[in-house]
Amino acid sequence: MSNTELIKKIEKLKKERHAVILAHLYQPAEIQDIADFVGDSLELSRMAKATTAEVIVFCGVTFMAETAKILSPERTVLLPDVTAGCPMADSITAQEILRLKEQYPEAAVVCYVNSSIEVKAVSDICCTSANAVKIVQSLTEQQVIFVPDQNLGRYIATFCPEKQIILAKGFCPTHHFITVQQVNETKKQHPAALLLVHPECPLEISRMSDLTGSTAQIIDFAAHSPTQEFIIATEEGILHQLQLACPGKQFYPAAPRLICANMKKTTLANLAAALEELKYVVQVDENVRQKAALSLERMLALS
Ligand code: 13P
Ligand code: SF4
Repeated sequence: MSNTELIKKIEKLKKERHAVILAHLYQPAEIQDIADFVGDSLELSRMAKATTAEVIVFCGVTFMAETAKILSPERTVLLPDVTAGCPMADSITAQEILRLKEQYPEAAVVCYVNSSIEVKAVSDICCTSANAVKIVQSLTEQQVIFVPDQNLGRYIATFCPEKQIILAKGFCPTHHFITVQQVNETKKQHPAALLLVHPECPLEISRMSDLTGSTAQIIDFAAHSPTQEFIIATEEGILHQLQLACPGKQFYPAAPRLICANMKKTTLANLAAALEELKYVVQVDENVRQKAALSLERMLALS
C-alpha cells in the first residue's frame, strides 16, 4: 500500500475506533504529521490523562505508552510496535531501588519518567526532563535517590547543592556519547548558532549550552529566540517540528547519527495495523498501576 493509501486508511480507522494518535517528538516525520498531538513526555502524559477518546494509539516507546495507561486506565492504549523499548528505562529494576532504599532509608526516590511501571510504583515521585529540577527542589528530604539517568541526575544536582543526589548508572545511548569535541567542531562550522541541549547529554555538554531543556522546551526556545541558527543536541526527530515551528531558521545536529532506533520503529503500516487489529494493547497489573499512578499524579500536581 502507498503512503497516501495508508494515511487514508489510518484517518478512516481512527474515526471508527474513536481513537486519538499521540506522537513523541522523536517519531518519524510522517508519524508526527498524522498524529493528533505531538509533544514531549510531559505534554503527552497530560494529553493521555485528559483525552476522552476510547483508544489512545501511542507512537513512542513502551514506557510512554505505559504512562498513558497508568494515567488513563479506562482507555485502550496501543503501541504500534511492541518491541519499541528504551534501554535507559530497562537499566534499573524495582528490586534495585528497594535495595537502594534500604541503604538510604531517609532518601526520597525520584524516578525519571523513562522507567518501567514497577519502578514508578516503588518511587515517591516521577519527573520528566521538563520539570526534573523543579520536582527535586520541591522535596524536603536532603537525600534523593535519582533513577535511572545518571546524566539528568548530575544536571539536577548542579541546581541543588544542598542535597545529596544518589545516582544510578543508566544513560541514553543516543545522548550519552555526544562529545565536547563533536560539539566544538559543529560550533566552529556554525559560529553564530546557539546550542540547545537535552539534559540526557553528559553534564559537560549541558554546561556548554545556551539552553538545556526537554524536547518541547527546545522548540519553544528556538521559536521565541531572535537568533536564526541553532545547534541541536538531541535526537534528530525533533528537527521536523523545529522546522515547522521556525520557518526560515537553520538547525544543525550537534553530532552525527543522533538517532533512537526504538523511536523509529513506528511506521504508517504498523500504525494502520494497530488501529485495524487493536494491537498491541498495553496491559498493566492494577495494583502496580495504582502505586505508579501516585508518583505520576504527584508530579503532575507540581508541574
Ligand atoms: P522529553 O521528555 O524531553 O520529550 O524526552 C524524552 C526522551 O526519551 C528523551 O530521550
Ligand atoms: Fe530511551 Fe534514549 Fe530513545 Fe529516549 S532517546 S527513548 S531515552 S533510548
